[in-house]
Amino acid sequence: MQQLEFEQRRKNVMAQIGQGNIGLIPSAPERIRNRDIDYPFRQDSDFYYLTGFNESGALAVFIPGREQGQYILFCREFDEKKKLWEGAHSGLEGATTHYGADDSFPIDDLTDILPGMIENKGKVYYPMGRDSELDHHLLEWINHLKMQSRTGINAPSELVSLEHILHEMRLFKSAAELKLMRKAAQISAKAHIRAMKCCKVGMYEYQIEAEIIHELMSNGLRAVAYPSIVASGKNACILHYVNNDSKLGKNDLLLIDAGGECEHYAADITRTFPVSGKFSPAQKQLYQLVLEVQLATIEMIKPGIAWNDIHQRSIRMMTIGLVKLGLLTGSIDKLIKDEKYKKFYMHRLGHWLGMDVHDVGDYKVEEEWRVLEPGMVVTVEPGLYVQPDCDTVAAKWRGIGIRIEDDILVTKKGYEVLSADVPKTIVEIERIMQEN
Ligand code: GLY
Ligand code: MN
Ligand code: MN
Repeated sequence: MQQLEFEQRRKNVMAQIGQGNIGLIPSAPERIRNRDIDYPFRQDSDFYYLTGFNESGALAVFIPGREQGQYILFCREFDEKKKLWEGAHSGLEGATTHYGADDSFPIDDLTDILPGMIENKGKVYYPMGRDSELDHHLLEWINHLKMQSRTGINAPSELVSLEHILHEMRLFKSAAELKLMRKAAQISAKAHIRAMKCCKVGMYEYQIEAEIIHELMSNGLRAVAYPSIVASGKNACILHYVNNDSKLGKNDLLLIDAGGECEHYAADITRTFPVSGKFSPAQKQLYQLVLEVQLATIEMIKPGIAWNDIHQRSIRMMTIGLVKLGLLTGSIDKLIKDEKYKKFYMHRLGHWLGMDVHDVGDYKVEEEWRVLEPGMVVTVEPGLYVQPDCDTVAAKWRGIGIRIEDDILVTKKGYEVLSADVPKTIVEIERIMQEN
C-alpha cells in the first residue's frame, strides 16, 4: 500500500475530528505466548489503517490545525541492541521520514508530552476501552487539567469514539484495498483447490491444514486471517471447530473454512466436499440446497438492496428446502416465524469483510438495516448443520455439516465474487477430486 493512501485516510479522519479537537489511537500490544516468547505480532487494524506502521509500543495523535504538524507518532526509539536481536525498526526518525509523521516522540515520554497536547481541546476522539492503560491515563490527565482550570487551562469536555468515524471509512474499500483483497482471495482459492486435490481417506485434518498453510505461505501470504477450520464428518457441525485432529473417514464430508491475510486484508472462504471424492445421495441433496441458497443470494447483491433482505431470502429458501427433504414439517411461514430453521441454520448469511475477518461497520443505520453500496465487501455463507444426535430427522442426515462461503464485492452494477476460483458445484468438485 502506498504512503499516499494512508495520508489520504489521515486527511479524511482529521477533517472529521475537526479543529480544536484531538484524536488518539494506540498500536496493538505484544502478547505473551509463554514465558519470554510472544505470539506473532499483528498490528491493530484501525491503527494500521491510519498509519501503515507495523510496530507495537506506538500511539498516533491527530491534532487538526496544529501549526508544528497535525500528525504525531509516539514510538520506540531506535536501539542498536534491539536491531541486533530483533532486526530493523523505525525509530523516531523513520516515523517522520518513512511514515509521514509531522513529528515523532519517544513512547516512553508519553505521560510527559501528551497531557500538554490535550490541554484546551474540546473533544478527545479515541477507541474507548481498547487499551486499559490509555483509558486510565487519559482520565487521569483530564482530571489533572480540570484542577488547573483557575489558571485558564481547559480540560476536554467530551470523549468520543474514534471507531465510529474509522469504521465507516473502512467499510468502503478503495481500489488499492481491493487489489489486496483480490490477491488474498485468489491465493486462498489456490489453497482450497490444493486441499481438494490432496485429500485422501485416512489423512488427519491437520495434514490438510498443513497443505493449506503451505499454499498460502509459498504464495506470499504469511498469516492466516483466522484459525483454519478443517472439520470432517460430524466435526463440521461444531461451528468454530479448530481442533483439526480427527482422521478423515471414507464416508465423511470435509468442511474447510480457511483464508489468508494479504498485507492486513483477509480472505474468508469455505468449501465442503466428500473425502472420497464422491458425494453420497443424502450429502448431495443437502449440499445442493446450500449451494442453491448461496447462488440465489449472491445473485441478489447490488447497490440499494438491504443486506437483511438477502438474509431473509436465505432463511425462506432454506426452510422450503428443509421441508421438501423432510427435515422440517409444517407451514413455511409458521416454521419461519417460530425460527425452526435455526436448528439447522443458526448463523447469519454473512458479514462485512476487510482488514478484520468479521470486519467493522454498522449493519444498521438509525435502526434500519443498511443497504449495500459499491465498495462494500461481504461474505455469503449459508450453511446447514444436522447434529449427530438430532433424532427428529432420518438417520441418513445426521452428522452432516455443510457451509459454502464466498467473498463478494458490491460493484456499481452488481457484484464481483473475489473467491470465484474455487469450484463449488457437485460436478466440478467431483471432477477436480478425481483428477489425481
Ligand atoms: N471464518 C469465520 C467466518 O466465516 O465467519
Ligand atoms: Mn469463514
Ligand atoms: Mn465468514
